[in-house]
Amino acid sequence: MEADELHQQVAELREAVVALRRELHRWPELGFQEEKTAARVAAELRHLGLDVRTGVGKTGVVGVLRGARPGKTVLLRADMDALPLQEATGAPYASENPGVMHACGHDGHTAILLTVARLLAARREALPGTVKFVFQPAEELPPGGAQAMIAEGVLEDPPVDAAFALHLWNSLPVGQIGVSAGPIMASADRFQIRIKGVGSHGAYPHLGVDPIVVGSHLVSALQTLVSRELPPLTPAVVTVGKFHAGTAFNVIPSEAELAGTVRTVDAAVRQEMPARLERLVRGLAAAMRAESEVTYTFGYPVTVNDAKMAALAAQVARQVVGEANVVAPQMSMGAEDFAYFLEAVPGCYLRLGSGNAARGLVQPHHSALFDFDEAALPIGVEVLARLALAFLHQET
Ligand code: NI
Repeated sequence: MEADELHQQVAELREAVVALRRELHRWPELGFQEEKTAARVAAELRHLGLDVRTGVGKTGVVGVLRGARPGKTVLLRADMDALPLQEATGAPYASENPGVMHACGHDGHTAILLTVARLLAARREALPGTVKFVFQPAEELPPGGAQAMIAEGVLEDPPVDAAFALHLWNSLPVGQIGVSAGPIMASADRFQIRIKGVGSHGAYPHLGVDPIVVGSHLVSALQTLVSRELPPLTPAVVTVGKFHAGTAFNVIPSEAELAGTVRTVDAAVRQEMPARLERLVRGLAAAMRAESEVTYTFGYPVTVNDAKMAALAAQVARQVVGEANVVAPQMSMGAEDFAYFLEAVPGCYLRLGSGNAARGLVQPHHSALFDFDEAALPIGVEVLARLALAFLHQET
């Protein structure tokens, strides 16, 4: 009965959630600069009668909905930031902020969560417990907004018992939802390597120590950290994304600089990687008479779904899109700062199918041509709203 009513209300809000998404899409803002977006979110939450905190983790917004009955606290999170990209979709609602674009669907996440707040606020009298609506800044900009908001107490007062979030996902067709227990997104760490050689004339390599040759060997050798040192069924990636050295064709420079990223899906493997990388760099550079310096910085941790919360999310997802449309998604080597929430409390990160090949809506996230099927929006609203209700009504 309640479920039918909720479904009906979501259907009635379909146009509103699409309009809200398009409004947000027109004015994308970069991480920690989400001033307009945050103001819009805060105004809407206040209008709904929620307790609202702004400026949490710089530009984050939290709306707290206290149900009339006592109970647990569930946190729902959306990210608000856009990317430094010139939109090329030609959509009528395309970005009006030059060089900035919602190319990852965070406009959709924000519109979905505000609409969930609207639905649940109308149920306050019957609601057991508390729902925290968290609109976070800077998911795309490590160290990110999640950590900043947690540091400022978003998981306290009242303490959060579970956390859920979803991400629009273009490689999954609209109408499908991906849920699985365990690791779902990778950790994303970065390294920087300086090779110090000895500069020389290009004609007389024996008088110098060539850092470009050392660096070139390193680029290949670093791949063995995965291919020769980790078990074949343990996913990991080492990518060198930067290699800078030299100023002239006939000069051996004195230094080279490399930088890259390491992705893993296992916390223990992740912890071992800095030592492995440093050992290889030092050993190889020394073998070739060069000196080396390694800086290794941990970024977002592995995003790990709790088994019980993933089971609850899958059950709710089946109610919304049907058994056949709930899939166990492949793990992604991308990273996500919702990981920090899931390190602190049990929860689940869902993938909301938003691709539509027939309509050409299959561009990858972070592309200047990215757009998604807006039919995903009401599905996302219904899943998150039902998930919050299911968790709060759950007997434990
Ligand atoms: Ni994203």
